[in-house]
Amino acid sequence: MEWLRLTMLPAVQGSEFAKEVDDLYMFLFWLSAVFFVGIAAAALYFPWKYRYKEGRVTPHITHNTTLEIVWSVIPLLLCVGIFFWGLNGFMKYAVAPGEAMEIQVTAKKWLWQFEYPDGSRTVNDIHLPVGKPVRFVMTSEDVLHDFFVPDMRVKHDIVPGRYTEIWFTPTVEGLHRATCAEYCGKGHSDMQAKVTVESDAKFKEWMATGGTEWMNYKPEDWGAMQREEKGCATCHSIDGTRGQGPSWKGIWGKMEKMQDGKLVLVDENYVRESMMQPQAKIVAGFDPIMPTFQGLLHEQDIRGLIAYIKSLK
Ligand code: CUA
Repeated sequence: MEWLRLTMLPAVQGSEFAKEVDDLYMFLFWLSAVFFVGIAAAALYFPWKYRYKEGRVTPHITHNTTLEIVWSVIPLLLCVGIFFWGLNGFMKYAVAPGEAMEIQVTAKKWLWQFEYPDGSRTVNDIHLPVGKPVRFVMTSEDVLHDFFVPDMRVKHDIVPGRYTEIWFTPTVEGLHRATCAEYCGKGHSDMQAKVTVESDAKFKEWMATGGTEWMNYKPEDWGAMQREEKGCATCHSIDGTRGQGPSWKGIWGKMEKMQDGKLVLVDENYVRESMMQPQAKIVAGFDPIMPTFQGLLHEQDIRGLIAYIKSLK
């Protein structure tokens, strides 16, 4: 029945929870299927069996004690069994082991910000060492969001002004996805994060340098990827259409008019300042809503984004 499991559940069982969750889920599925078929068959068969016939007299039956005990006790045992099976999984899910690495998650419209124990921060991108438990302490800066990592079978609401937690131990190396599972506005479907599970050595290297993936790309191509991954694309178009922020098309080298009436040349310094201190200069006609990316971008990301904006003639 592997094909059926795959159609209903994510193919990868990426954490220690995954198998337990899948087993319980499939048990419930098959239990429901058996009862559905049995009840539906009886509902069809009995009306046919006891249909009207000339001369048939309906027997006078008030109750059947054996039958009543059977249909009370069997479902009761099933329900109690399912309850304890679920409770057992829930208890494991609810309490993280003490040695778990703690990552702070901040959800905001519309990106994920992660902070590691050493203070380094990333956007829409987490790396985790395989086989080590990790605990996420999550909060929101604006509205309800929900952190969902399907491969790990974990999912939890994120509530503004409050902390919620999940944890898991990743067991499968490779790229997994995290997504927002609570409708939070226009950019909801763009609230995606990459979850890379890798060996301890690779993880340490990534923590120190931000990884070497960028070396495989031309700066403007890396910049184009960062625009999607860091959430710039939510507000800044590349085709000239007006978004929450100015479009990047043809912006390079232009004199832009700011809110205070001053003209500012769009060059490396202006673009960098706009990422790090977005409130410093606001383009006339736009609201000061951009979050700061201070500490969230590596030097190679900033260079890539600048090269990309330059290339958008
Ligand atoms: Cu955040 Cu939906």
